[in-house]
Amino acid sequence: MKLELVKGDITKVDADAIVNAANSSLLGGGGVDGAIHRAAGPELLAECRDLRGCPAGQAKLTKGYRLPARHVIHTVGPVWRGGNASEEAVLARCYKSVFALVEQHGLRSVAFPSISTGAYGFPIEKAAPIALREIHAALERLPRLEKVTVVLFSPGDLEVYQRALAAAPASNPGGNV
Ligand code: APR
Repeated sequence: MKLELVKGDITKVDADAIVNAANSSLLGGGGVDGAIHRAAGPELLAECRDLRGCPAGQAKLTKGYRLPARHVIHTVGPVWRGGNASEEAVLARCYKSVFALVEQHGLRSVAFPSISTGAYGFPIEKAAPIALREIHAALERLPRLEKVTVVLFSPGDLEVYQRALAAAPASNPGGNV
Protein backbone atom coordinates (compact mmCIF):
# COMPACT_ATOMS: atom_id res chain seq x y z
CA MET A 1 0.00 0.00 0.00
CA LYS A 2 2.16 2.85 -1.33
CA LEU A 3 -0.26 5.67 -0.57
CA GLU A 4 -1.95 5.94 2.81
CA LEU A 5 -4.39 8.57 4.12
CA VAL A 6 -4.52 8.76 7.92
CA LYS A 7 -5.89 11.04 10.61
CA GLY A 8 -3.25 11.96 13.16
CA ASP A 9 -0.36 14.16 14.24
CA ILE A 10 2.46 14.26 11.69
CA THR A 11 5.05 14.88 14.44
CA LYS A 12 4.50 11.29 15.56
CA VAL A 13 5.14 9.74 12.13
CA ASP A 14 8.29 7.62 11.76
CA ALA A 15 9.22 8.24 8.11
CA ASP A 16 12.45 9.16 6.32
CA ALA A 17 10.98 12.66 6.09
CA ILE A 18 7.92 14.57 7.22
CA VAL A 19 6.90 17.70 5.35
CA ASN A 20 6.41 21.01 7.13
CA ALA A 21 3.93 23.61 5.86
CA ALA A 22 6.22 26.52 6.68
CA ASN A 23 6.31 30.21 5.88
CA SER A 24 8.99 31.85 3.76
CA SER A 25 11.09 32.85 6.78
CA LEU A 26 11.44 29.18 7.85
CA LEU A 27 11.60 30.53 11.41
CA GLY A 28 8.54 28.68 12.72
CA GLY A 29 4.93 29.67 13.22
CA GLY A 30 1.65 28.13 14.30
CA GLY A 31 -0.24 25.11 12.99
CA VAL A 32 1.81 22.18 11.81
CA ASP A 33 4.93 24.40 11.62
CA GLY A 34 4.64 25.15 15.34
CA ALA A 35 3.97 21.51 16.19
CA ILE A 36 7.00 20.28 14.23
CA HIS A 37 9.34 22.84 15.81
CA ARG A 38 8.04 22.05 19.30
CA ALA A 39 8.55 18.32 18.79
CA ALA A 40 11.93 18.61 17.01
CA GLY A 41 13.44 20.95 19.60
CA PRO A 42 15.55 24.09 19.29
CA GLU A 43 18.23 22.59 17.02
CA LEU A 44 15.69 22.57 14.18
CA LEU A 45 15.27 26.34 14.39
CA ALA A 46 19.05 26.76 14.56
CA GLU A 47 19.48 24.79 11.33
CA CYS A 48 16.58 26.65 9.70
CA ARG A 49 18.19 29.99 10.52
CA ASP A 50 21.15 29.02 8.32
CA LEU A 51 18.84 28.22 5.39
CA ARG A 52 17.95 31.90 5.03
CA GLY A 53 14.30 31.40 4.09
CA CYS A 54 12.47 29.67 1.25
CA PRO A 55 10.30 31.13 -1.53
CA ALA A 56 6.72 29.87 -1.97
CA GLY A 57 6.62 26.68 -4.05
CA GLN A 58 10.14 25.62 -3.09
CA ALA A 59 11.40 23.23 -0.41
CA LYS A 60 14.46 22.77 1.83
CA LEU A 61 15.63 19.74 3.84
CA THR A 62 16.84 19.63 7.43
CA LYS A 63 17.48 16.94 10.01
CA GLY A 64 14.60 15.77 12.22
CA TYR A 65 16.38 16.06 15.59
CA ARG A 66 14.01 14.88 18.37
CA LEU A 67 11.30 13.85 15.87
CA PRO A 68 10.92 10.15 14.98
CA ALA A 69 11.40 11.22 11.33
CA ARG A 70 15.00 11.44 10.12
CA HIS A 71 14.41 14.61 8.13
CA VAL A 72 12.01 17.52 7.80
CA ILE A 73 11.32 18.90 4.33
CA HIS A 74 10.11 22.47 4.74
CA THR A 75 7.96 23.82 1.92
CA VAL A 76 6.09 27.10 1.64
CA GLY A 77 2.59 26.87 0.23
CA PRO A 78 0.61 29.63 -1.49
CA VAL A 79 -1.67 31.90 0.48
CA TRP A 80 -5.16 31.56 -1.06
CA ARG A 81 -6.12 34.88 -2.66
CA GLY A 82 -9.31 33.80 -4.44
CA GLY A 83 -7.79 31.47 -7.01
CA ASN A 84 -6.58 33.90 -9.68
CA ALA A 85 -3.01 34.30 -8.46
CA SER A 86 -1.61 30.94 -9.64
CA GLU A 87 -2.26 29.42 -6.21
CA GLU A 88 -2.98 25.99 -7.69
CA ALA A 89 0.26 26.00 -9.70
CA VAL A 90 2.27 27.07 -6.65
CA LEU A 91 0.70 24.33 -4.53
CA ALA A 92 1.54 21.70 -7.16
CA ARG A 93 5.10 23.06 -7.22
CA CYS A 94 5.39 22.50 -3.45
CA TYR A 95 4.75 18.79 -3.94
CA LYS A 96 7.11 18.61 -6.93
CA SER A 97 9.83 20.43 -4.94
CA VAL A 98 9.43 18.02 -2.01
CA PHE A 99 9.68 14.98 -4.32
CA ALA A 100 12.78 16.44 -5.99
CA LEU A 101 14.48 16.37 -2.56
CA VAL A 102 13.08 12.88 -1.86
CA GLU A 103 14.70 11.69 -5.12
CA GLN A 104 17.96 13.60 -4.53
CA HIS A 105 18.39 12.06 -1.07
CA GLY A 106 17.08 8.60 -1.98
CA LEU A 107 14.35 8.76 0.67
CA ARG A 108 11.96 5.81 0.74
CA SER A 109 9.08 7.20 2.82
CA VAL A 110 7.60 10.67 3.23
CA ALA A 111 4.57 12.05 5.08
CA PHE A 112 2.69 15.23 4.11
CA PRO A 113 0.27 17.46 5.98
CA SER A 114 -2.44 19.17 3.97
CA ILE A 115 -0.28 22.06 2.78
CA SER A 116 -1.87 25.56 2.70
CA THR A 117 -5.36 24.42 3.80
CA GLY A 118 -5.07 25.89 7.32
CA ALA A 119 -3.89 29.44 8.00
CA TYR A 120 -3.19 29.98 4.30
CA GLY A 121 -6.86 29.42 3.48
CA PHE A 122 -6.54 27.20 0.40
CA PRO A 123 -9.88 25.35 0.05
CA ILE A 124 -9.16 21.73 0.97
CA GLU A 125 -11.60 20.42 -1.68
CA LYS A 126 -9.36 22.05 -4.30
CA ALA A 127 -6.07 21.14 -2.61
CA ALA A 128 -6.71 17.41 -2.16
CA PRO A 129 -6.89 16.51 -5.89
CA ILE A 130 -3.71 18.53 -6.56
CA ALA A 131 -1.86 16.76 -3.74
CA LEU A 132 -3.02 13.30 -4.84
CA ARG A 133 -2.15 13.95 -8.50
CA GLU A 134 1.41 14.96 -7.61
CA ILE A 135 1.80 12.05 -5.18
CA HIS A 136 0.57 9.59 -7.80
CA ALA A 137 3.04 10.98 -10.36
CA ALA A 138 5.92 10.67 -7.89
CA LEU A 139 5.02 7.08 -6.94
CA GLU A 140 5.01 6.22 -10.67
CA ARG A 141 8.28 7.97 -11.34
CA LEU A 142 10.49 7.24 -8.30
CA PRO A 143 11.34 3.53 -8.02
CA ARG A 144 12.88 3.88 -4.56
CA LEU A 145 9.87 5.67 -3.08
CA GLU A 146 8.01 2.98 -1.14
CA LYS A 147 5.45 4.92 0.88
CA VAL A 148 3.70 8.27 0.89
CA THR A 149 1.39 9.09 3.79
CA VAL A 150 -0.93 12.08 3.96
CA VAL A 151 -1.60 12.89 7.63
CA LEU A 152 -4.87 14.77 8.15
CA PHE A 153 -5.49 16.57 11.41
CA SER A 154 -9.27 16.18 11.50
CA PRO A 155 -11.82 13.53 10.46
CA GLY A 156 -13.39 16.05 8.09
CA ASP A 157 -10.10 16.68 6.31
CA LEU A 158 -9.48 12.93 6.02
CA GLU A 159 -12.91 12.50 4.45
CA VAL A 160 -12.18 15.17 1.81
CA TYR A 161 -8.98 13.37 0.80
CA GLN A 162 -10.70 9.96 0.78
CA ARG A 163 -13.43 11.32 -1.49
CA ALA A 164 -10.84 12.91 -3.78
CA LEU A 165 -8.97 9.60 -3.94
CA ALA A 166 -12.14 7.65 -4.74
CA ALA A 167 -12.93 10.13 -7.50
CA ALA A 168 -9.51 9.59 -9.11
CA PRO A 169 -8.71 5.85 -8.65
CA ALA A 170 -5.68 6.22 -10.94
CA SER A 171 -4.01 8.17 -8.15
CA ASN A 172 -4.07 5.08 -5.92
CA PRO A 173 -1.58 2.53 -7.22
CA GLY A 174 -1.82 -0.78 -5.41
CA GLY A 175 -4.85 -0.04 -3.25
CA ASN A 176 -5.22 2.10 -0.16
CA VAL A 177 -6.93 2.69 3.23
N1 APR B 1 -0.19 17.15 12.13
C1 APR B 1 -0.77 17.13 10.90
N2 APR B 1 -1.46 18.17 10.39
C2 APR B 1 -1.57 19.28 11.16
C3 APR B 1 -0.98 19.39 12.45
C4 APR B 1 -0.28 18.25 12.92
N3 APR B 1 0.31 18.24 14.13
N4 APR B 1 -1.28 20.63 12.95
C5 APR B 1 -2.02 21.26 12.02
N5 APR B 1 -2.20 20.45 10.95
C6 APR B 1 -2.95 20.71 9.72
C7 APR B 1 -3.99 21.79 9.75
O1 APR B 1 -5.19 21.32 10.35
C8 APR B 1 -4.16 22.04 8.25
O2 APR B 1 -5.05 21.09 7.71
O3 APR B 1 -2.03 21.14 8.74
C9 APR B 1 -2.76 21.77 7.69
C10 APR B 1 -2.01 23.02 7.28
O4 APR B 1 -2.38 24.09 8.15
P1 APR B 1 -1.31 25.14 8.73
O5 APR B 1 -0.41 24.45 9.67
O6 APR B 1 -2.08 26.32 9.18
O7 APR B 1 -0.41 25.50 7.45
P2 APR B 1 -0.77 26.42 6.19
O8 APR B 1 -2.21 26.52 5.93
O9 APR B 1 0.14 25.90 5.10
O10 APR B 1 -0.27 27.87 6.67
C11 APR B 1 1.11 28.05 6.85
O11 APR B 1 0.82 28.86 9.08
O12 APR B 1 1.79 27.90 10.90
C12 APR B 1 1.92 28.92 10.00
O13 APR B 1 4.28 29.26 9.85
C13 APR B 1 3.15 28.76 9.16
O14 APR B 1 2.91 30.94 8.25
C14 APR B 1 2.77 29.57 7.96
C15 APR B 1 1.30 29.22 7.79
